[in-house]
Amino acid sequence: MRNSEQDNQILLEKIREYWNERIHDLEVATHPVGTEGFFEDLASYRFEKLHYLPEVVDFSGYRGKKILEIGCGAGIDLIRFAQGGARVTGVDLSETAIELAKKYFAYKQIKGELKVMNGEALAFKDGEFDMVYAHGVLQYTADAQKMAGEAFRVLKPGGRFIGMVYNRHGWLNVMSRFFKVGLEHEDAPVLDKYTIRELRGLLSQFSKVRIVPERFPVKSRLHGGLKGLLFNTLFVGAFNALPRSWVRKSGWHLMVFAEK
Ligand SMILES: C[S@@+](CC[C@H](N)C(=O)[O-])C[C@H]1O[C@@H](n2cnc3c(N)ncnc32)[C@H](O)[C@@H]1O
Repeated sequence: MRNSEQDNQILLEKIREYWNERIHDLEVATHPVGTEGFFEDLASYRFEKLHYLPEVVDFSGYRGKKILEIGCGAGIDLIRFAQGGARVTGVDLSETAIELAKKYFAYKQIKGELKVMNGEALAFKDGEFDMVYAHGVLQYTADAQKMAGEAFRVLKPGGRFIGMVYNRHGWLNVMSRFFKVGLEHEDAPVLDKYTIRELRGLLSQFSKVRIVPERFPVKSRLHGGLKGLLFNTLFVGAFNALPRSWVRKSGWHLMVFAEK
């Protein structure tokens, strides 16, 4: 554990405040926050940038199953599980995130339980869920070990955990240091990066832990100027011309699939 219980609570409040102010990927939206177009903007950007995601996460493979998403944000992934027939619950520390997710589900007329809740202290019974999903969340919380323990606890025996953390040895971390370009949410109260070994350690309670580095360079809509041009033309092309097997370990996202 990183801190005393009291320090942990203080840090969690800072994390809540931060995410109440900063909606993930907000800068790509052209429609006003909370409108139907806003959610479509977020979804189209997400699946353009993370085109690997539907290839490795079977959003429609959980029909009738109970899924919990920890740190669901505006619900962009959670709604896909629900559209695939899963019974979904999404929790997030941020009130803003949950308000937005509720609007998104309402626009789509899809059922889902959405609650403000700390993923380090889940108000669910042991063994309630078939699958727990946490994409881009463990690295932003105060005590990732606690969150991983809670994910384990609320899973049924044989249940699945799917998560994503940032790769300390990933290309984007190296690039950002080299070119002095800030990472997304670098100003967040917590932003941890993991090696594959550290991630295995974090999830040591689970069995059959499989870690797959993903998220290789794609053209960025966000970076302009000379750096943006060089990145989009030279770097993205050159990197993606290399055989994946050579560069696989440098994927920026460590996707993890584990079983209880
Ligand atoms: C980078 S965003 C990711 C959102 C969403 N999973 C996605 O991939 O778009 C991180 C999210 O984790 C949430 N979060 C951080 N710590 C949390 C905690 N202890 N409990 C619940 N949510 C948390 C934040 O409020 C924020 O919505």
